[in-house]
Amino acid sequence: MAIKMAPYIIRISSQKGGVGKTTIAVNLAVSLQSMGYRTLLIDADTTNPSVGFHLGMEGANVGLKDLLKKERKLKDVISLHGATGVHVICGTLNSQPFAINESNAKSIYEKIKDANYSFVVVDTEPGYTTEYIPKVYDEALLITTPEMPAVASIVRMSHAFDKLHLKHHMVINKLGKHRYELHPREIEETYGSKAVGILPEDEIVPISISEHIPAVVLSRRARFSMAVNDLAETYSAMSSEEPEREAPHGFWGRLLGIFRR
Ligand SMILES: Nc1ncnc2c1ncn2[C@@H]1O[C@H](COP(=O)(O)OP(=O)(O)O)[C@@H](O)[C@H]1O
Ligand SMILES: [Mg+2]
Repeated sequence: MAIKMAPYIIRISSQKGGVGKTTIAVNLAVSLQSMGYRTLLIDADTTNPSVGFHLGMEGANVGLKDLLKKERKLKDVISLHGATGVHVICGTLNSQPFAINESNAKSIYEKIKDANYSFVVVDTEPGYTTEYIPKVYDEALLITTPEMPAVASIVRMSHAFDKLHLKHHMVINKLGKHRYELHPREIEETYGSKAVGILPEDEIVPISISEHIPAVVLSRRARFSMAVNDLAETYSAMSSEEPEREAPHGFWGRLLGIFRR
């Protein structure tokens, strides 16, 4: 008999905005799903939800807010992204900012833990409230760019998470070949551990956002996409669960399936 495993819940975090949290959350979720892991992507950026723009789902009229206010059941706020098979709890773009606190977060994550997912990827807003975070997440994935203000902010965040005994990893995003950038080695030394992913600056990212198609689907061979797929492989290796090897979903999924063979 198959034993049901709890999903592995990853909080995509940074104190700074614009470092690539949403882009990475979306592409990592799609990549994990295309590897056969049932994946739920949650837009928990309560002030500026933007997952919908990346996936062409900006019209979603139910989302996390309805779940937190207990106005809808979990299954009623999950939308299927038809092209990739990823399940998504969208932000509602026209709603006022709202607060996630310990009691409402715990109640929804308890339901999510019971749902049949291997990975849950949670996009968040810049900054953090610390209290409830270790109670609901398995780890924080800290996103930085190769510049000191961003690195300093994730180091600060990592110290806070250490105090809360929340596991964390770091991704360096938008690595270009600019003279003024910090070298990944310097960033790793400052953070105190190796990066789990180094993602290049790549024009496929803004192009994919404007097309509303995740980069890993739009161009699997783009350097950014290959680096995200490597990151998903790293999480696959960390996860004890075998992927379900679901049939690739939708047109893009089938296309991905052809390239994976
Ligand atoms: N690897 C990358 N290469 C090029 N542009 C990127 C990359 N990652 C993110 N961007 C760009 O940076 C901007 C901010 O990305 P976003 O994912 O919205 O960041 P955040 O969610 O942290 O605010 C977007 O305009 C996006 O196109
Ligand atoms: Mg964002």
